[in-house]
Amino acid sequence: MKLPLLALSTVVGALPPTSFTTRHTSHVPKSLKFRKDGTFQISIFEDLHFGENAWDSWGPQQDINSVKVIEKVLDAENPSLVVLNGDLITGDNAFLQNATAVVDEIVGPIVARDLPWASTYGNHDYQYNLTGEAILQHENRYQNSLTRSMVPGRDAGVSNYYIPVMPDHCKSKHHCAPELILWFFDSRGGFEFQAKQANGDFVGRPNWVDVSVVNWFQQTHAALAHEHKKVIPSLAFVHIPTNASLALQTVSKVNPNYQPGINDDYPASVQSQGWCPDGTNSGCAYGGQDAPFMKALTQTPGLMAVFSGHDHGDTWCYRWDEGTVVPGMDIRGSGLNLCFGQHSGYGGYGSWIRGARQVLVSKEKLRNQEVDTWIRLESGSAVGRVSLNSTYGHDWYPATPNDKTQCPTC
Ligand SMILES: *[C@@H]1O[C@H](CO)[C@@H](O)[C@H](O)[C@H]1NC(C)=O
Ligand SMILES: *[C@@H]1O[C@H](CO)[C@@H](O)[C@H](O)[C@H]1NC(C)=O
Ligand SMILES: *[C@@H]1O[C@H](CO)[C@@H](O)[C@H](O)[C@H]1NC(C)=O
Ligand SMILES: *[C@@H]1O[C@H](CO)[C@@H](O)[C@H](O)[C@H]1NC(C)=O
Repeated sequence: MKLPLLALSTVVGALPPTSFTTRHTSHVPKSLKFRKDGTFQISIFEDLHFGENAWDSWGPQQDINSVKVIEKVLDAENPSLVVLNGDLITGDNAFLQNATAVVDEIVGPIVARDLPWASTYGNHDYQYNLTGEAILQHENRYQNSLTRSMVPGRDAGVSNYYIPVMPDHCKSKHHCAPELILWFFDSRGGFEFQAKQANGDFVGRPNWVDVSVVNWFQQTHAALAHEHKKVIPSLAFVHIPTNASLALQTVSKVNPNYQPGINDDYPASVQSQGWCPDGTNSGCAYGGQDAPFMKALTQTPGLMAVFSGHDHGDTWCYRWDEGTVVPGMDIRGSGLNLCFGQHSGYGGYGSWIRGARQVLVSKEKLRNQEVDTWIRLESGSAVGRVSLNSTYGHDWYPATPNDKTQCPTC
């Protein structure tokens, strides 16, 4: 049975688990809409890392702390959509019988405010006792979950899909073109479910966006442009950043006034790290398998920014300028912005102050393919407020303070 596509404003609750049986939820989710004032705002929570040490009191306390972060940010920002950008759960510590139980805790504050959400899965969401499929099934018990899985095949990963955002006046999606497309990608990683090598070690999973997904992205993007007879501006979300973020960080360098944000994870950990060019995963620093995805991102007209997590200590945005070739890379920049968010959860490494990146899209700025973004912190303040416009990277901004969370229970 398929989930009924009810209006988001109707009663939201858990459907019985038996109502969801299909592996692939390939239908396009109920589309989102711009607000009457012509804006659409996204709150990106990343690296929430729920479910640490379920057997002691420290772990569950971190989850309580993380719920408070979500509540504070949502109350301060009142977004149109929540994105959970990977590592929702620390699956490394999960028990097989209740690995996805914490999903209810994660989405509690989102459901209570009747907001829609969309997830990508991260390397910690794929562990011996946990899979992206299992999280998707648990999420999809809620009507407000827009997470889908549109690319079949064992190697594709799970959270690959898109969501159209329609103009506010649109009555039926068959009668108007989307204003904005949101792309979600699964960068995989972590370990195979319930699999061990002969020596007892877990079996590693490739940590890049698979080429089948890259092909689907390019074909679907072209089909949408053809259908609507124009390029629709878009944003993308993927848990693990690509090698371009690392190259810009280490070769071009991040400047605290031109790319404001914390830059503590240096060098950043990126897709294909730890893999060899031949697809084996021992003894290599970087295998280069993310190149097709990087190339596709730079070659996609209308794609304004890509948002990643994974590196909890990096929170900047970098505009990869048109025509710029980072030394050592043969992929040319196209003006695409590569952004990190903010470590949102109390689980996972690091004590950088918790928060969530906000993205404000307005119809007015979309004409020039510009969006505004900032990070809302748990403390209530907002930092790193920038316009991702054509001069981003050349405009001076105040540096972001590198604050840490001070608390007795974390
Ligand atoms: C999951 O199961 C473990 C072991 O039985 C238990 O200690 C833990 O409290 C359970 N967690 C949840 C969220 O149900
Ligand atoms: C997987 O779950 C089982 C059953 O709860 C538990 O005994 C085991 O320790 C877990 N393994 C890992 C690697 O988390
Ligand atoms: C990744 O970036 C490094 C520079 O940090 C560069 O040397 C390398 O060639 C890049 N790989 C690809 C596939 O672009
Ligand atoms: C980009 O935004 C910044 C900050 O709002 C502003 O100072 C700059 O003039 C803008 N650039 C363009 C081309 O609009």
